[in-house]
Amino acid sequence: MTTLDPQPIDPLTDYDIFDRAFVRDPFPVMEQIRESECPIAHTERWGGSWMPTRYADIVAIAQEFETFTSRQILVTGPPPAQVFEGPYAGVAAPPISSDPPEHHWHRRLILPYFAPQSIAKYESITSDWCNQLIDRFIDQGVADSAADYAQQIPVRVIAHMLGVPTDMSDTFTGWVRGVLEAGLMDQEVRLAARKNILDFFRDQIADRKANPRENDLITNLLAAEVDGEKVPEDYVHGVCNLMLVAGVDTTWSSIGASLWHLAQHPEHRQQLRDDPELWPAAVEELLRAYAPVTMARIVDHDIEFQGCPMKADDRVLMSFSAANRDPRQFENPDVVDFHREHNRHVAFGAGIHRCAGSNLARLELRVALQTWLARIPEFELADPSAVTWAGGQVRGTRQCAVTF
Ligand code: HEM
Repeated sequence: MTTLDPQPIDPLTDYDIFDRAFVRDPFPVMEQIRESECPIAHTERWGGSWMPTRYADIVAIAQEFETFTSRQILVTGPPPAQVFEGPYAGVAAPPISSDPPEHHWHRRLILPYFAPQSIAKYESITSDWCNQLIDRFIDQGVADSAADYAQQIPVRVIAHMLGVPTDMSDTFTGWVRGVLEAGLMDQEVRLAARKNILDFFRDQIADRKANPRENDLITNLLAAEVDGEKVPEDYVHGVCNLMLVAGVDTTWSSIGASLWHLAQHPEHRQQLRDDPELWPAAVEELLRAYAPVTMARIVDHDIEFQGCPMKADDRVLMSFSAANRDPRQFENPDVVDFHREHNRHVAFGAGIHRCAGSNLARLELRVALQTWLARIPEFELADPSAVTWAGGQVRGTRQCAVTF
């Protein structure tokens, strides 16, 4: 080996969530950790973290919210106190960044907007957008299923839901990537993106206060009361921030990874054509197999967890995709099986922070895939080695050219 060769690293003590090979295919490393004597790995990289890989441990940590707090949920970076300085010091991302008791009302106020009957109205407009996107490239016989399609859908849905201009979708996408991709490795980028998002929503909130709109999420939240008192404006600001950051990158990554899978599995496309009733199970299985999200927890006090000496303020990475590939929970976890009988996956997390937008996410994923397959039933990867992935906090395809 020359000094130019990459140094072999031991994933049990030195994993790197941004390592290119890990981002492209994290599953062999996760398996190696999961099946070792120490299924909770540790690294000093990126500020240091622990990474449990077994389903039972990840679910237990998600449920022990008093020990494993949500004071900081990004997978890298300094402690929250240093991040939230300046004019937006009080603006976080409730309810995802909240701990009980506040978490309870932070979550309760937004849940009605994501109930199945509330989100059903987004189905037809989502399908219209999907069709319009496909119109742009269907005659060319080639398209980037990630950048030209998957990436374009959720950002429009969230903008529509928040009542902000859908034609700003590229700008919103840039900000979200600033927080969840480049910003994870560069604090300046992250803070600049955060400021753009919060400046934008500060103006939107001022607008709603001057011109309240009917049945508008921002207007309604501004008028909401808890225990007879109006909710703080920082809360409304934080919810807007979270909607954009949590609702865009996650869903687009799921749609993108699912298309990457379907491009390589004509037999799965055929199953969906032969039996449309398979769709709900197929959506769950794709969510399980390609769960995009890793969240962090901050340890509240020194504790030994499964033999690991965790210290107060340590970061724990909740890789829901690692949990979803645990053979203790799922038979043949690396096989995508639309007929899987037991699928209690945790792509949407577990415990009190379980995804509030899961109904909407499922709707978008199903509509995006159904519309694609109706118009482009046969397609394949143009060049498997040219596909690029983002990882770290949210894993999904970023460039994925397909031919049809
Ligand atoms: C496939 C797409 C999605 C996936 C995989 C996903 C995944 C997750 C996960 C794993 C959590 C738990 C976080 C934690 O434990 O700290 C979460 C929370 C959350 N998600 Fe999603 N999400 C998706 C789409 C959405 C959408 C479209 C929205 C709506 C805008 C949304 C809103 C939320 C909210 C508000 C929370 C916080 C809930 C709480 O803390 O009580 N998500 N999501």
